[in-house]
Amino acid sequence: MTMLRVENISLHYGAAQALRSVSVEASLGEVTCVLGRNGVGKTSLLRAIAGHRPISGGAIEFDGTDITRLKPFERAALGVAYVPQGREIFPLLTVRENLETGFAPLKRPQRKIPDEVFELFPVLKSMMGRRGGDLSGGQQQQLAIGRALVTRPRLLVLDEPTEGIQPSIIKDIGRAIVYLRERKDMAILLVEQYFDFARDLADRFVVMERGEIVQRGDRQALEGDDVRQRLAI
Ligand SMILES: Nc1ncnc2c1ncn2[C@@H]1O[C@H](COP(=O)(O)OP(=O)(O)OP(=O)(O)O)[C@@H](O)[C@H]1O
Ligand SMILES: [Mg+2]
Repeated sequence: MTMLRVENISLHYGAAQALRSVSVEASLGEVTCVLGRNGVGKTSLLRAIAGHRPISGGAIEFDGTDITRLKPFERAALGVAYVPQGREIFPLLTVRENLETGFAPLKRPQRKIPDEVFELFPVLKSMMGRRGGDLSGGQQQQLAIGRALVTRPRLLVLDEPTEGIQPSIIKDIGRAIVYLRERKDMAILLVEQYFDFARDLADRFVVMERGEIVQRGDRQALEGDDVRQRLAI
C-alpha cells in the first residue's frame, strides 16, 4: 500500500532551484532508497516531505491526504517521522528527555516510550540519565531514530543515518531498519550515499542528480554497475 506520494515537486532556495519536478513513492513494509552524490537535493526532498521547507510546485500526499500545505507538527501528528541529517538531538537534554520530545504529536494515552526502542537500541536504556551531547555519534543516531519511533510513525524518513558512524553501529541500524520493514506497518524512505548499506536494504530506489531523479528501479536493478557508477565521485 502506498503511504507517500510525492508528485512533481519543485523547491527553491531564493533563486536557486534544488528540486525539479521530483516524484517518488513509498509503500508500507518497504524501504525506498534515495541515492545521489553530495548536493544533488536529497535533504531538500526530505525537508519538503517533513514540511520544513515550502515547495514551489507539485503536491505531497500521505495516506490519501494532501499534506502539501500542512505544518511539520501536523504531518508528525499524522505519522510522518523525520530523522534529519546530522541527527539534531538536544545535547543538553538527557536521553530520556530527548526520547520524550517525541511525545509532542501524540495524544496523552499514547505518551509512553515503546519497548521496541530499547529492544532495538539497548544502549539507550543504559544511558537514560546521560545528556544527549555526551553520547557518541553512533549513539546519537540511535537516539534520533528512537525518538522518531516514539511518535509511532507510519512513514519513517531517514537522512544518511550511517554518515560518520562506526561499522558496528551501522550494523545495528541496518538490523533495526530490517525489523521495522518486516513489521509492515510503516513505509521507510532512506537517503544514503553508502551504497552497500542501501543495496542490502532497498526494495526500490531512485537516483538523484542536480535536483532531478535520473534513474529508478527495484531491488534487482540496484545490483547493476550503472547505479554504483553514478554514485562514484
Ligand atoms: N538552506 C539552504 N539555503 C540555500 N541553499 C541550500 C540550502 N540547503 C541546501 N542548499 C543547496 O541546495 C542544493 C541541494 O542541497 P541538499 O542539501 O538538498 O543536497 P544533498 O543531496 O542532501 O547533499 P549532501 O549529500 O551533501 O547531504 C545544494 O546546491 C545546496 O547547496
Ligand atoms: Mg543531505
